[in-house]
Parts: sequence; C-alpha cells; structure tokens
Amino acid sequence: MNEIQMARDITSDEGHFKAFGYAIVDMPPLSEEVLATFDSLPRDHHSQSRLRHIRLSQYFGYREEGQWIFALLPKRNYIQSADYIRLAEAGGVMRYREQLECDPTPLMVSILDALGVDGAESYQLNVNQIRVTANAEFKGITVPEGPHRDGHAYSVIVVARRNNVNGGETQVIDPVSHQLIHRQTLAENQAILLDDERYIHYATDIEPAQGEVGYRDIWVVEINPWHQRAYGPSHERRASQANLPRVVPA
Ligand SMILES: [Fe+2]
Repeated sequence: MNEIQMARDITSDEGHFKAFGYAIVDMPPLSEEVLATFDSLPRDHHSQSRLRHIRLSQYFGYREEGQWIFALLPKRNYIQSADYIRLAEAGGVMRYREQLECDPTPLMVSILDALGVDGAESYQLNVNQIRVTANAEFKGITVPEGPHRDGHAYSVIVVARRNNVNGGETQVIDPVSHQLIHRQTLAENQAILLDDERYIHYATDIEPAQGEVGYRDIWVVEINPWHQRAYGPSHERRASQANLPRVVPA
C-alpha cells in the first residue's frame, strides 16, 4: 500500500479536515427531482472549446439556534480573480450565469456541517452546478486552467453523477513542493472538502467508458466568511484589477 492509498483510508475520519486541510466525506443522496435539473443546464458560452453546462446561485448564510438559514443573493455576473485563475477565458472575466432551478439548502447544510465552520460567523456561498460532457467532438476537459486554487476560504467539490465516464480523478497538491498530497476518483455522493488557502487542486479529464458519450455532474461550492465575500462590487473590482500574466489555452 503506498502513501497515497494509506492517506485515502483516513480522510473521512472526523477531524481529518481540521488537522490536514482536506477530507473526503459522504453527502446525502440528492432527490430525483434535483438530479433531473442537471439535464436542463444551459451551455457555458464562456468556455466554447469544451462541452460544459452550468448554473450558479449565490447565497448569504448564517446559523441561529442550531439551524442554517440561507438567503439567495441578487443575480450578478460571476468573476474569479486573475490572481488565482490564470486562464484568459476565466480569470478576471465577468461571466454570465443562469441561476439554479433547484433549492440546494440540504447540500449547503451538509457541507457547512462537514467543514465544522464557526457558527457565529456569517458566510457567502457560491453554488455552481456543472455538467462536463465528453463525446466524439469534445474532450472531457474538467479543469482547463490546470492545478489552481479558487481564491476562497473553502472549496468543496461534490460528485452527483458519473454517467459512463472514466477519469475525473481529483488531486490535492501542495502549492510549494507540488507534491501530490491526495488523489481519488470521487464516487457519486462523495465530496472533497478543501482548505483553498492551503492547497491547490486539479481534476483529470474524463472520457467515455464505452461508446461515444459520457458525462460527470458535480457541484462546486465556494465558501467565504461574509466579510471576505466573493460577491458584489468590491470583489468584482479587485478581481478585475488582478494583473498577473494569464495563459491562453492552445
Ligand atoms: Fe477549482
């Protein structure tokens, strides 16, 4: 058994996230109704070189008397800082997103509880619902920007469905040594919790397991304390002003 395999066996232990800054956890299965909403996602027109469908809703969340309460924030364009996402189509670019057609409250509650965040804080959450498809025309490129951090306090990737795909292995990487800390192909209803300030992450491409078409449905949930929110005019200005050299994909 190699070191990575050994690490895999302990990642779901309670306290692993607090100690190591990442953990693999089980998520409650989604309802059929929520799963069906992956079938009606609009195409991501900012990423035409691949077949990706996406929605995004952004929330304010806080905890009171043991209960998480969420409020949908007004729809805005989505921007990730070019300081973190060094890809011309994504970093520092305002991207249009349609909002979710389902209520992700159970998902957000499960994630915040698994992270063990401070319930005295208020939070801002981005809930991205994504399908990446691999077929004869499009390679199943999961992460075109390569290994990266998202620029948030926490990033959580939840696999909702793997339909006839191989690949899509999630990797946790040390940003200084570039050592691979953990690698795992997440199963349906498994999530990886990431301390996004501590590690960079990546996922390998997917390809159809058999025949011509396969897809992988995921949630990417990005979380920040409200006072460090990735939402609103100040965040948009800071993210736009980021000025590191960017990479244009071949
Ligand atoms: Fe990411």
